[in-house]
Amino acid sequence: MKIEIVNKSIDKVDASLEIIFIVNKKTKDIKDKKLLKKVGFNKSQGSSYLVASKDRLYVGIDNFKSFNIRTACAKAIKSINNTKYSTIKIASDKKFRAIVEGFILGLYSFDKYKSKKSNQKIEAITISCSKDVDIKSALDEINRAKIVAEATNYTRDMVNTSPDDFYPAIMEEEAVKLASTHNLDCNILDVKALKKEKMNTLLAVARASRHEPRVIHISHKPKNPKAVISIVGKGLTYDSGGLSLKPSDFMVSMKSDKSGGCAVLGIMQSVAKMNLDVEVHGFIGAVENMIGGDAYKPDDVLVAKNGKTIEVKNTDAEGRLVLADVLCYAQQEIEADYIFDMATLTGASVVGVGEYTTSVMGNSNKAINRVLDVSKKVSGELATKLDFNPYLKATLKSNIADISNISSTRYGGAITAGLFLSEFIEEKNRKKWVHLDIAGPAFVSSAWGENPSGASGAGVRIMSAMLEKMAK
Ligand code: BES
Ligand code: ZN
Ligand code: ZN
Repeated sequence: MKIEIVNKSIDKVDASLEIIFIVNKKTKDIKDKKLLKKVGFNKSQGSSYLVASKDRLYVGIDNFKSFNIRTACAKAIKSINNTKYSTIKIASDKKFRAIVEGFILGLYSFDKYKSKKSNQKIEAITISCSKDVDIKSALDEINRAKIVAEATNYTRDMVNTSPDDFYPAIMEEEAVKLASTHNLDCNILDVKALKKEKMNTLLAVARASRHEPRVIHISHKPKNPKAVISIVGKGLTYDSGGLSLKPSDFMVSMKSDKSGGCAVLGIMQSVAKMNLDVEVHGFIGAVENMIGGDAYKPDDVLVAKNGKTIEVKNTDAEGRLVLADVLCYAQQEIEADYIFDMATLTGASVVGVGEYTTSVMGNSNKAINRVLDVSKKVSGELATKLDFNPYLKATLKSNIADISNISSTRYGGAITAGLFLSEFIEEKNRKKWVHLDIAGPAFVSSAWGENPSGASGAGVRIMSAMLEKMAK
């Protein structure tokens, strides 16, 4: 889809449909005022009305905040997706990022497995702005928004793909393809290399699967980077729970347990396409958690890459085991200014903050605030902080090993999982590390805001926005 911006009044722009925002109670001169009154168009967020005879689509918004613009654009574009309208125009002097993201994210649909594919007809969108707008910087904003939204859709596609079409070796292929398209470095660790690196907790989780695990290291290395960032993603291509098997209702949708890893690939794509002046290293632990005679089990004691021993009490708390090793590996390979990890780590995060929000944890408010700052202001993704505390930390004690893989209390599970990961962060990196639990927003069964049902691409927009800021 082509997106343009022109210093021309809206009436001079050629398009098959005009989209018009009506800011609740504020927009005064409305062309079809009488008609809208007649049909009871109520001007509030979420309402829309198509005046087909004049090819105008009116869209109500409560105010001109990015959040509302984005969701309104998504809704508008969805409502005309199966019509004959193929070119669209819209007038605005600001909020270009939200407009473009709303359109591109709103148009997304996943039809890989449908016999009948959706035939998306919208070819071009033209934004009309007044002479006061600097076209060059507007265009820059639009191009970035397009890159980030497309990277989000790329991540959505991978996460939505079924587990037998997307397993660790496929994730490797995807990473290699991405690297060759965008000139990124890519290093793959197979089982032999993982053994050599002593990533034994990751290997234990992977053992019962017919799909061998991989660790993927993919990186963007500009000449004079403003910062060096590592991002570690949980790439559980399927999480059955292992021998601590999930009840059937909870197993459905666990193809989405690779969301953190897929988000890493999306972020690498957006960083490369924007050619940001930050060095970014993506690390993905791609593993399938299954059952079988060779499965790792409750009561096993595993030795992580850093030598710490872990008593396994629940094989469904596998993400933290995989991440423990990958975090150690990432720290060994790269001396980073910040280390982020993204994971669909706990159901407790979803219970605590709801489906739409990412939980953010760490040992430094400064680092955490970097994420929270961009999350609401720029990215449109919701995120909130969860505090660590020593009492919850004490619940991870094991009688026979250095640490247990689950807490002794059933409360505060998102935080105890974060505290577990914290044990695998080297002292010198303590304040450089931030953990994002995306279990809520990564995969939601019904559509919300600019997101479709299924995968949302959580994390891609937050991280891209943060890296853009770091590159400035
Ligand atoms: N992948 C799940 C967490 C999850 C749950 C993600 C719901 C998305 C939606 C994770 O591996 C898991 O099973 N965690 C357990 C931990 C427990 C055994 C301590 C959980 O949250 O129940
Ligand atoms: Zn699990
Ligand atoms: Zn999991």
